[in-house]
Amino acid sequence: MFNHDQNLWIHQAQLLEENGILRPYNIGIKAGKITTITTEDDRHEYTHILDANGWILLPGVIDPQVHFREPGLEHKEDLSTASHACARGGVTSFLEMPNTRPLTTNQATLDDKLQRAAQKSLVNYGFFIGATRDNLAAINQVSPTCGIKVFMGAMHGDLLIDDAEYLERIFATGDRLIAVHAENQQRIHQRRAQLADRYHLPEIHSEIQDEQAALQATALAVHLAIKYQRRLHILHLSTALEVEFLRQHKRPWITAEVTPQHLLLHRSAYHQLGALAQMNPPLRTPHDNQVLWQGLKEGIIDFMATDHAPHTLAEKARPYPESPSGMPGVETLLPVMLTQAKAGQCTLNQVVNWLSTNVAAAYGIANKGKIAPGYDADLVLVDWEHYHPVRREDLQTKCGWSPFEGWELTGWPQVTIVGGQIVYNQGQFNEQARGKALQFLADTIYTNPT
Ligand code: DOR
Repeated sequence: MFNHDQNLWIHQAQLLEENGILRPYNIGIKAGKITTITTEDDRHEYTHILDANGWILLPGVIDPQVHFREPGLEHKEDLSTASHACARGGVTSFLEMPNTRPLTTNQATLDDKLQRAAQKSLVNYGFFIGATRDNLAAINQVSPTCGIKVFMGAMHGDLLIDDAEYLERIFATGDRLIAVHAENQQRIHQRRAQLADRYHLPEIHSEIQDEQAALQATALAVHLAIKYQRRLHILHLSTALEVEFLRQHKRPWITAEVTPQHLLLHRSAYHQLGALAQMNPPLRTPHDNQVLWQGLKEGIIDFMATDHAPHTLAEKARPYPESPSGMPGVETLLPVMLTQAKAGQCTLNQVVNWLSTNVAAAYGIANKGKIAPGYDADLVLVDWEHYHPVRREDLQTKCGWSPFEGWELTGWPQVTIVGGQIVYNQGQFNEQARGKALQFLADTIYTNPT
């Protein structure tokens, strides 16, 4: 069921060709790398054979925005439960955010996370460094990191950077990637005061943290990125207004992402899900869903992320605004998107680009995001024939719920492979397997191929 030597022959998997056609191939893996893709039968050269059963083989998903809560908030999630959820969801690498306890804001807290992940994570890992008011030198020196995370709003405490002058200093200093949570904190304060009398239902969340709050912050970040020619990534775009703004102002060194919930859920979700639908930035309207899809297909939005942000059901049951914002996502991202592809909303090649290839290119993660000789064997075999519902009892995330519960999905991962090792095989986990720390190439110039 599992191989422990990173040597593997995958027999008769369906591989996706560039023209979108699926054809059966055999894949040879040695020392964790893809060595051959062939129609010949060379399985005698390999110690472990995996029959692919006609399933489709895709590059492992790279989820570039997750909150895995360790250290300090392990009652919501930890690196073991989160990485089990990744393995079940076909996510072979993740980039994790700094709002843990302590915050990840210097080399010592980054090293601590790397050490914890080395001990616990079934899949590969990278971490953002969080900008505060007093760590300008550290955010440009720590290593390895995928980039600097800046919360422009919707955050409290040391990670909130809501002062435009200091934000400009961050853009003016250094050259590594800056990823922004773009919501304008002043606007949120104003809206909160204006809407105070209606302040008890989670629906109000989308009106307090409204479209203008998102647009204003995105516009400011883009302005600074152009002024300083600084590599900028805009996290979880949520509005049609931002897509239209980026259509005019985007530059080759600016990228953006969208979550499946912002593509597929809208404000009406509050009626069914209550505070489970509450996240930052909030859910919007069907029109926003549609323009975000369009932006993704046009390449204005470069790739996808889950913003996996688990909170317990007890925490979510608190009355608004004490209910925390965020929803889990790593184990539903791939089947949600493959179900969209099956329904004709997008192509399989687009899903691969949005979930793997473009993410690796944008973050300068070498040898990942594609199935080709010499690439790391981070792979997922999916069943794109049968449909199964998202069920609470199957979830690996510690929070134990999903906004997609009850959705009938296809494309569920059957086998997930990290560095040539099988880590998940039809409901079973390889508890001995461990992922590796990701390395990020400096100065990656990324141009969306779409
Ligand atoms: O809804 C959210 N929750 N958005 C974020 O950006 C942070 C996250 C959290 O950490 O709970």
